[in-house]
Amino acid sequence: MARVNRLVTLEQALASTGSDVKEWFAAYINPELASLLTLVGADRRYVAACGMTVADADGREYLDFLGGYGSLNLGHNHPELLAALASVSELPNILQASMNPVASALAASLAHISPGALQKNFLCNSGAEAVEAALKLARAATGREGLLSCEQSFHGKTFGALSVTGRTHYRAPFQPLVPGCDYVPFGDFRPLQDRLRTGRYAAFIVEPVQGEGGIIVPPAGYLWEAQQLCRDTGTLFVLDEVQTGLGRTGYLFAAEHDQLEPDVMALAKSLGGGLVPVGACLSTDDVWRKAYGRRDRSLLHTSTFGGNTRASAVALKTLEILLRDDLPAKAQRKGALFLQRLQGMAERLPLIKEVRGRGLMIGVEFHSPQAGPEWVRGYLGAAVCGLLLEEYQIISAFTFNNPNTIRFEPPLTVSDEQLQRAADALEDICASHRDFRGTATHLVRTLLRRKLHRTFRKSV
Ligand SMILES: Cc1ncc(COP(=O)(O)O)c(C=O)c1O
Repeated sequence: MARVNRLVTLEQALASTGSDVKEWFAAYINPELASLLTLVGADRRYVAACGMTVADADGREYLDFLGGYGSLNLGHNHPELLAALASVSELPNILQASMNPVASALAASLAHISPGALQKNFLCNSGAEAVEAALKLARAATGREGLLSCEQSFHGKTFGALSVTGRTHYRAPFQPLVPGCDYVPFGDFRPLQDRLRTGRYAAFIVEPVQGEGGIIVPPAGYLWEAQQLCRDTGTLFVLDEVQTGLGRTGYLFAAEHDQLEPDVMALAKSLGGGLVPVGACLSTDDVWRKAYGRRDRSLLHTSTFGGNTRASAVALKTLEILLRDDLPAKAQRKGALFLQRLQGMAERLPLIKEVRGRGLMIGVEFHSPQAGPEWVRGYLGAAVCGLLLEEYQIISAFTFNNPNTIRFEPPLTVSDEQLQRAADALEDICASHRDFRGTATHLVRTLLRRKLHRTFRKSV
């Protein structure tokens, strides 16, 4: 593949063709991902997005049920967030030798709406960074080395966050990771108790609902008891609300389902309103003081872009809209109806193994095919997502740690009719296919048809 021998300008990028983009992506970003996206038909050129809807270059409209893995609680390009960005366009965006008024207001607001006594904020740019901050804070505050997390958890892919992520596939190539990390089964109280009673752990970090693990809701009482056990053993209880936070599960924070009061909480994704990268690690005043409450420790953990004006302005406006429009309660009502409909389908259609979730964070798990190579058996979810996209213009994706589960995490502004359309589409697919072979063959045929159609269109 020829190397690009010039600077590509923004204007040229916007005017580029689909094949330019495929070439650049494959040559300069990730060739394997480029071919995977092409294989499942996700190689279209999207040219516009607003709320729930995305349009491609051929003028077809799609419903976004993936929602940026939980980053689009307010949908694409929310006009008030674009206006918030414009409203600060003349302020200095980055000026570290000052106390940023917008970042300070964001921190105060986050403390006000967060569960329990969370007060201090570390503002950053991603979920993994918020988790890094939480892990470092826990070690510095407790003086302990151990970090406990759950099997099948997902906390990000930087070194610390990866070290507490409960999937060997992601960790193995990077060993040795951060020392002192151990894992317990999610939702099982006994092994957690055994580990925590050793008194070795600085923190137990847990997702209130496992997202990438396949949208797994823990048994009732598990998180409350885990919090109690953490209190009894001097371990910090760290909630990773990066994906569940800001209304997704039907409350502003998933912690509210169990009246949890974490010592530390990680946030990101939808905090940036789908427009800007923002993360936050909140902690109680007491924990923060133990870790950093001295002049010589006050700069131990920092970030150049954390708390920049534009990101903070969008985050602040995002919180205002979420609360003003009562979106968490709407997610609860719509999610319950959607879940009920999908669970009804699961009882009738043999392709579906289980449907589960909370609010608008819903997973549909398919039965693993019994035959065929391992990598194929794990990807029935990908075939269903391919068909949803190709035939029904619905964007979805499988979960990272459990590819036979697809997730629906639409913007919280999704309408009842749009939910209905997604459920009808899934029902159509699952009612017409009994197994992976049928689904995959249908997908391959559909993709070939599209390719032929495109080639034909180009040649006339
Ligand atoms: C629960 C959870 N924590 C952390 C992360 C990492 O976030 P980011 O991709 O912004 O680094 C994710 C990402 O999916 C997540 O779901």
